[in-house]
Amino acid sequence: MTATEPKQQGEGSWLGDRIPLPVGEMLTALGAEPVPGHLKRWWWCLGGTAAIFLLVQVVTGILLSFYYVPDPDHAYESVQAITEDVSFGWYIRSLHKWSANGMVAAVILHALRIFFTGAYRKPRELNWCIGALILVVTMAFGFTGYSLVYEQLSYWGATVAGNLTESVPVIGQMLASFLRGGDEVTANTLTRFHMLHIGLLPTAMFGLLALHFLFIRVHGVSELEFKDQAGATKTFPFFPDHFMTELIIGLGLLIVISCLAVIFPAGLADKADPLVTPEHIKPEWYFFWTFRWLKLVGLQTAVVTLGLAGGVFVFWPFIDGAIRKRRPGSELSVGLGIVAVIVLIVMTVWEAWVLSH
Ligand code: HEM
Ligand code: HEM
Repeated sequence: MTATEPKQQGEGSWLGDRIPLPVGEMLTALGAEPVPGHLKRWWWCLGGTAAIFLLVQVVTGILLSFYYVPDPDHAYESVQAITEDVSFGWYIRSLHKWSANGMVAAVILHALRIFFTGAYRKPRELNWCIGALILVVTMAFGFTGYSLVYEQLSYWGATVAGNLTESVPVIGQMLASFLRGGDEVTANTLTRFHMLHIGLLPTAMFGLLALHFLFIRVHGVSELEFKDQAGATKTFPFFPDHFMTELIIGLGLLIVISCLAVIFPAGLADKADPLVTPEHIKPEWYFFWTFRWLKLVGLQTAVVTLGLAGGVFVFWPFIDGAIRKRRPGSELSVGLGIVAVIVLIVMTVWEAWVLSH
């Protein structure tokens, strides 16, 4: 005798019999989510651009991991082999490098658009905090990736970062020696940075992004008011309309980074030498402003002020909320935001100028 089960939704096909859930209907419902009309323009949907770059990073990063050796005696040589010997290794490495820059730029621009349109305000405060943590994770990806190459600047960049961490009040020494795996940058540091780059940071990134997207779904993307456009409140479905927009942007970006990879492939400077300090220790461009600040105010003050600024950035929606409670309609955030952006650009350009002279 065979047991007969009551028929469930989704049954009847091979897959439906094994996954008795209305998967197709669920996907259709998910894709039918209305998206505000302004997302048709790139500036308003930069979050999708960051996601596209992240996808490129994961694919190229996994390919690089097949050949990369996280050991100081072999790391530099393995990157050299990727660049010179492995078929298309130079191309994959260059894509990873250019896409990393693209991702950092997209994440920063996305955060700026959220900030200047006030899209972080109630009820989206927590999603801003999650986004701010995503920004930190993205920068940490860039920093650890740069260190993996194990050329002179990778080594000395990690040394400066270690000194900065040491200056964190109370826990600095402990934190620095935990991250470095000792009192100086050694073999332990490389294994730890590698573990961070391909293990912990991707896990943190995907966890945070899952929450980020969940919040976006729950709240929907904020509606914006445009003075000149009556049709701005018009919505269109996520699938196929918005999906196609993102696909076209994605393909365009792939062509751009592919051209950049071919015209300006990732190079390789001298191997790390703990005994020779380079004339200029140069981090990635998105850390230039921190270096400038460090040189201007000294290690201890820089660490404390950067920590405070980071805290204000992460919790800005609540600070802004408190200000607007006292002064309803206040747009102080826009003024402060403009000043902050100008200061960051000036410090970045200043440091770039110093490093190139
Ligand atoms: C890998 C990084 C990130 C990805 C893939 C991502 C993805 C997205 C996407 C797809 C949207 C929908 C609207 C749009 O595209 O603009 C969005 C909205 C949002 N994002 Fe992000 N994001 C990232 C980083 C950040 C950062 C760094 C922040 C803030 C510091 C942030 C805060 C927000 C907020 C508050 C919204 C809601 C905006 C609204 O409803 O208009 N995100 N994000
Ligand atoms: C799961 C995702 C990822 C994996 C498995 C991965 C893996 C790797 C590996 C093995 C290397 C060393 C090999 C080499 O430099 O050629 C590397 C380098 C690097 N990674 Fe990643 N990565 C991932 C995501 C990211 C992300 C999201 C970023 C930045 C936003 C990033 C930025 C970098 C940078 C800047 C380098 C140095 C590039 C160079 O000069 O060669 N990576 N990555």
